[in-house]
Amino acid sequence: MISANNREPVSFLKTLILDANDNKNIKICADHMKTGGVVAFSTETVYGLGANALDAEAVSGIFDVKGRPADNPLIVHVASIDDVKPLVTDIPDIFKTLTEKFWPGPLTLIMRKSAAVPDIVTAGLDSVAVRMPEHPAALALIQEFGGPIAAPSANPSGKPSPTKAQHVKNDLNGKIPYILDGGDCKVGIESTVLDITGKVPRILRPGSVTYDELKNILGNIDIVNTKTGNELNDKIIEKPMSPGMKYRHYAPKVPLTAVFGPPEKTAEFIIAKVNDETGALMFDDHAIDHKNIITIGNSDDHEVLALNLFEALRKVDKSDITAIYAQVPNETGIGYAVADRIRKAAGDRIVVINMHESI
Ligand code: TXA
Ligand code: MG
Repeated sequence: MISANNREPVSFLKTLILDANDNKNIKICADHMKTGGVVAFSTETVYGLGANALDAEAVSGIFDVKGRPADNPLIVHVASIDDVKPLVTDIPDIFKTLTEKFWPGPLTLIMRKSAAVPDIVTAGLDSVAVRMPEHPAALALIQEFGGPIAAPSANPSGKPSPTKAQHVKNDLNGKIPYILDGGDCKVGIESTVLDITGKVPRILRPGSVTYDELKNILGNIDIVNTKTGNELNDKIIEKPMSPGMKYRHYAPKVPLTAVFGPPEKTAEFIIAKVNDETGALMFDDHAIDHKNIITIGNSDDHEVLALNLFEALRKVDKSDITAIYAQVPNETGIGYAVADRIRKAAGDRIVVINMHESI
């Protein structure tokens, strides 16, 4: 994996988890970022790994800690609408409508970048991703820091995103000094990424702000097909729309097969596969009791599935299971984003079972 530069990563004796409810701790983290450092912090979606968005050297620290490829751009986090203006060359008309409805919250907007944003943040693209998180700890940190914070999810590149402070500690102990702990993330999957640079807004990454919610407000929107194409095979494509899409994501070390279809059918298929070495992620309302079956919520409770998915993928990695099958929810509402993350964890290991198929 190429990192943004060839520097030796900075190391710390150990990483401290600091309670975000104590203002002193917000200040400790903000002060560390003011010196060009990197800290992890809670947002409502997943934990982020933040540094001064306007300092290229500080941002290169994020790429070092994550082992993130230099061609995958970061999201810039702001605490107010006024913070957006210096980051972009123009504010599209729909910005107001979208931010009134969804900010602060799990919606990232792609706009044309201004010269104030260093190229390393946007991986050389002429657009920048901006989001105002809803989590009070994230907002307090940005305010105390006094400027925009660039932050990807706080996982090592390719691993599931962290939804608890302890996940970050497990992954990055010694690589950063502090994790600002604002509790468990309440969404559990990353923000919806919406490109508003063109005539028709395009969803580049589905999330908990859904296609239907955006369509209701905007009328005409596109959604980039995340089901097919290069993102599944690590193929290098020239400047893809959302560079992150070409990498495999969220993948546990154990090979995962995503099983699409009606839940009764996928449950039947998966239960027949489970044994001492083979495990499954299943819906509570379709699982059987087995030591290798991890349940992630009821089949139609998509918010709960989103909340539990990444932690379940982490559990798989800690177990001695050698293969795992996952039930994929029906792709409506947030189910679409959950299915997207399971599909990405599976790479090309996909099984589709039709309604009338006998297994
Ligand atoms: O919920 C979230 O969005 C979390 C929290 C920490 O805010 N952040 C997060 O960041 O998920 P990250 O870096 O893991 O994912 C950012 C995604 C990547 O797929 C990246 O390629 C895409 O946004 N992205 C960033 N800037 C972009 C740009 N200018 N054009 C297109 N895609 C962009
Ligand atoms: Mg990420």
